[in-house]
Amino acid sequence: MNNLRPVGIIGTGKYVPEKILTNSDLEKMVDTNDEWIVSRTGIKERHIAAPDQATSDLAYEAALKALESAGMTGSDLDLIIVATITPDSSFPSTACILQDKLGAKGAAAFDLSAACSGFVYGLATATSFIQSGMYNNALVIGADCLSRITDYTDRNTCVLFGDGAGAVVVGEVPEGRGFKAFDLGAEGAGGSLLQIEGGGSRLPASAETVENKKHYIYMNGREVFKFAVRVMGTATVEVLRKAGMDRTDVDLFVPHQANVRIIQSAMQRLELPEEKVVVNVDKYANTSAASIPLALVEAAEEGRMKAGDTVLMVGFGGGLTWGASVLVW
Ligand code: UT7
Repeated sequence: MNNLRPVGIIGTGKYVPEKILTNSDLEKMVDTNDEWIVSRTGIKERHIAAPDQATSDLAYEAALKALESAGMTGSDLDLIIVATITPDSSFPSTACILQDKLGAKGAAAFDLSAACSGFVYGLATATSFIQSGMYNNALVIGADCLSRITDYTDRNTCVLFGDGAGAVVVGEVPEGRGFKAFDLGAEGAGGSLLQIEGGGSRLPASAETVENKKHYIYMNGREVFKFAVRVMGTATVEVLRKAGMDRTDVDLFVPHQANVRIIQSAMQRLELPEEKVVVNVDKYANTSAASIPLALVEAAEEGRMKAGDTVLMVGFGGGLTWGASVLVW
């Protein structure tokens, strides 16, 4: 990416719904307890969308803040990418709904399906479009309403997920700054470890699919855990290699917020001290595509990066997929 137009993040915003679901609330719903949830995952609470809020509503709030912080309005955008596995409906895309609400007339708009890796996939896509000269200003959003696809009678999954949205404006930045490398990948063979089986063209929604709970997330937690620990390590090493950097260059590590134990294993592998790692899984749980942007934007709001800092984002999830990026802030 060396001789290309420098592209980076020029605006940030986030949104989480007001309602908080705590571990003690969940103790009243399923056979679980705060001690199990905190010790196995690090999660204490999560935010849940109101009944009248859909993914585009969360994304819209985050997008407004990102545009404001970039000093832009919707009409400045020429591309909108929404990474999500919980679009408002199968189609039109959530990105098209936003394009209208934001007044981004003429902007291209599409959703991107790469589950928890979706935001990093979206950043890579937007960066490529801008570097090629095809577009100038892109809005990239990770937004999910996982509460809508979570079975609140299944303790294996319902303690893990939350709702939220994080948005960034991607555009040209001064020389020396911006994205230095991406590493995207997939292992489709592991797709059935984390999926929603029903509601698509293979198993269309029916009374039977609903009765069999095929419209909810299924996850083989142990296998996904092993995959996550493996690819968090390999993807970070690979993206640093592509950027011509090593682990000592990393000023801030922004991992997907699924489980604090997965984050700790990556910290150990990279020998990163706590102050260089963003962890907010305790407050928001796993918000899928929103997880990395929520962590990134929160870190930015807390003043944890300064111009010139090297930020490494890495995510993994359904697909199975992974995505990592090196960004000079
Ligand atoms: O972003 C998408 C990617 N997803 C992930 O990153 C998730 C990756 N996986 C994980 O984070 C972990 O595997 C989990 C948090 C899902 C589970 O932790 P674990 O240490 O792998 O636990 P386990 O699945 O091995 O289950 C241990 C025990 C089981 O009981 P038995 O069979 O040993 O008697 C479970 O039934 O814990 C039980 N258990 C629970 N107990 C209390 C499972 N869920 C709960 C619960 N409360 N909520």
